[in-house]
Amino acid sequence: MEVQCAGAEPLRLGPPHTAAGLIFSVLLGVWYSQALEMSVGKVPSLEAVNGSTVILPCTYSSCIGIHNLYFNWQFNDNGTMQKVCESVIPSEGVEPHVSIYRERVEFVGKNHDNNISILLWNITFDDAGQYTCFGRNPKEKDKNHSAIFILTVVDELRVVDNTLTIIIASAVGGGIALLMGFMLLKNFTLFVLSKLEEKNKECLVSSSGIDNTENGLSGSKGDSKPTPKKK
Ligand SMILES: *[C@@H]1O[C@H](CO)[C@@H](O)[C@H](O)[C@H]1NC(C)=O
Ligand SMILES: *[C@@H]1O[C@H](CO)[C@@H](O)[C@H](O)[C@H]1NC(C)=O
Ligand SMILES: *[C@@H]1O[C@H](CO)[C@@H](O)[C@H](O)[C@H]1NC(C)=O
Ligand SMILES: *[C@@H]1O[C@H](CO)[C@@H](O)[C@H](O)[C@H]1NC(C)=O
Ligand SMILES: *[C@@H]1O[C@H](CO)[C@@H](O)[C@H](O)[C@H]1NC(C)=O
Repeated sequence: MEVQCAGAEPLRLGPPHTAAGLIFSVLLGVWYSQALEMSVGKVPSLEAVNGSTVILPCTYSSCIGIHNLYFNWQFNDNGTMQKVCESVIPSEGVEPHVSIYRERVEFVGKNHDNNISILLWNITFDDAGQYTCFGRNPKEKDKNHSAIFILTVVDELRVVDNTLTIIIASAVGGGIALLMGFMLLKNFTLFVLSKLEEKNKECLVSSSGIDNTENGLSGSKGDSKPTPKKK
């Protein structure tokens, strides 16, 4: 087992030229990924509002098991790496004592299911930046492994402004659309009404004509009607 994981080194071989070479490299890659691995999740970044409390996620995994795994969290402060916290995990499932060097930091992973996440309370704009979750397993010739998580801090006001703008924009847009729809509907209705009215007028004219003839009262139509009767 240990040989397989340590077998990661030959990965530095030249690029594969054959299918067999490719498969070989893939297999080595699989073995390689079974060595200690630090993971900050599928989405290694977070945008949060200042003043909120965020979790910086990190878990480790190892196919060969761990013994006195050293880990730390580092914050990249303008190029210099500042230790946020550090500890040594004697073995899997044991909750380690963690030294914390930065304010408002809490170790919440507790090494439950290899969880070494930390919580950052009441974040400020100074907390924005790059956080590195670092691990080193003595069982693995002390090789270094790390994963980077990016924290972005945004102003609450800007977010609220954007939301308001969107709400207003959509409200205005919706209003305009509604108004246009209404006007179109109104115009259409008026158009239809006017058409109907025209038809009605025609009907009225013709019906009045008929009425006139039926009544036998005066009018050109009344005059013309009697003619067929004479025929
Ligand atoms: C976030 O920052 C803004 C601007 O600096 C400030 O007015 C606001 O009070 C801050 N919010 C919190 C929750 O700290
Ligand atoms: C960060 O670094 C830049 C130049 O690299 C410098 O101008 C700036 O003052 C630094 N900021 C802090 C907070 O140290
Ligand atoms: C975070 O802010 C709240 C409210 O301002 C405060 O009660 C709490 O003690 C703060 N927590 C930390 C860890 O600073
Ligand atoms: C790690 O622990 C934190 C705090 O208990 C939890 O919120 C988070 O979901 C855990 N992550 C994983 C991958 O289990
Ligand atoms: C591992 O990281 C430490 C710093 O934590 C450094 O001193 C050491 O040279 C690194 N080892 C390798 C093999 O990169």
